[in-house]
Amino acid sequence: MVSAECFALRGDIVQSADVQTLACVEDGYAVCEKGRSLGVFPQLPGHLEQVEVRDFRGHLVIPGLVDLHTHAPQFACRGMGMDLELLDWLDAYTFPEEARYLDLDYAARAYRSFADEMVKGATTRALVFATVHLPATLLLMDLLEQSGLVTMVGKVNMDRNAPDALREPSAQASLDATQEWLASVRERAYSRTFPILTPRFVPSCSDGLLAGLSALQRESALPVQSHLSENRSEVAWVRRLRPDAAGYAEAYLNSGLLGGPCCPTVMAHCVHSDPREASLLLERGVWVAHCPVSNTCLSSGVAPVRAFLDKGLRIGLGTDVAGGYSPSILHAVAEAVKASKLRWRLEDEALAPLTLAEAFCLATRGGGSFFGRAGAFDEGFDFDAVVLRDDPPPCGEKIGLEARLERLVYTGADSLAVDKYVAGRRIPLPQAAADAS
Ligand code: GUN
Ligand code: FE
Repeated sequence: MVSAECFALRGDIVQSADVQTLACVEDGYAVCEKGRSLGVFPQLPGHLEQVEVRDFRGHLVIPGLVDLHTHAPQFACRGMGMDLELLDWLDAYTFPEEARYLDLDYAARAYRSFADEMVKGATTRALVFATVHLPATLLLMDLLEQSGLVTMVGKVNMDRNAPDALREPSAQASLDATQEWLASVRERAYSRTFPILTPRFVPSCSDGLLAGLSALQRESALPVQSHLSENRSEVAWVRRLRPDAAGYAEAYLNSGLLGGPCCPTVMAHCVHSDPREASLLLERGVWVAHCPVSNTCLSSGVAPVRAFLDKGLRIGLGTDVAGGYSPSILHAVAEAVKASKLRWRLEDEALAPLTLAEAFCLATRGGGSFFGRAGAFDEGFDFDAVVLRDDPPPCGEKIGLEARLERLVYTGADSLAVDKYVAGRRIPLPQAAADAS
């Protein structure tokens, strides 16, 4: 007897077998039962013959994509100030924009457009920075809960080196506001929207604030997200601010906010992490959110992802809106490959460029692992799936599944998402995309 909560997506299925290898099944079935994957089958096995089949023959079915680092309040100012580097860009564009989220009317409009965009594309899970503002952060969480996506959202902590409008008056005030936020989140009892502790980065957080957040982390067991070694001037500034620490990562480590078995942590960027810092991230089990679009746009550099992969680091992809102008993780896949080619050619020919299969794995299994069992159709994983419309090329030649995925990645496939599931739940896509199916 087949459960009513069981269905199959029929189509051309592409996922990562491992970091180097894509597993492709042409005209296969990805089967979901009670929100979990039962696996991918070339033909439906006998005991599943009765399941409802949703027919996407000729189109690609991929695991949902994971955005391991984005800033919701910067969505409205994408593509601005891209001639600046990080610290000047924060002062001139980002902080003034984030200050507007004190105004709940503005926040409601801007966060609605962010949530709508997240629903439209191929992303199914995300780690999201909000701002310091408590009511606006809750509003964002309400909207993301309604979206059906699974997200972790952070009220940002910052008690120094920020304009008055954004700087929390003291470490204690920032900690109190965080506790208040967490209490409100508990009351709301979201089912797919989770809080994550979010010290913005070392320059924005006093030692006392980081120590207080570490104590809160130990008692709450919440995960942590922040920024690390993104830009040269920022790295030099952190050295001046934290003479106690041997390097940037050690500043978080000394403050008790760098991974370990009870503190799942994502650090965004790591462009300037040297082998010593990378070893520390490995030892602490920290996830790196690689943000290639932002790293290029803010002239931060190109993260040594090949070296990180060779070391065995955990890595996912982030859009880092609005350092990155694009909210699309498929776009980030293409940019990760392109940036790695330039690094290889111009900086270090010992570090081979990423392949499409590797970058796709970061976007799926890599980021998905931060959420537990997500990012692939392995049996028992959460069933996150996206159907990408794939019209045959005009030349009519039949090309393989890997080549079809590559073509869609480079030609902007997010607009082609025609069906989407998060933990087995269908996410209604806006009409325009649905009409195209
Ligand atoms: N470092 C601290 N804050 C930010 C931010 O908003 N964006 C990026 N790219 N880096 C940061
Ligand atoms: Fe960021």
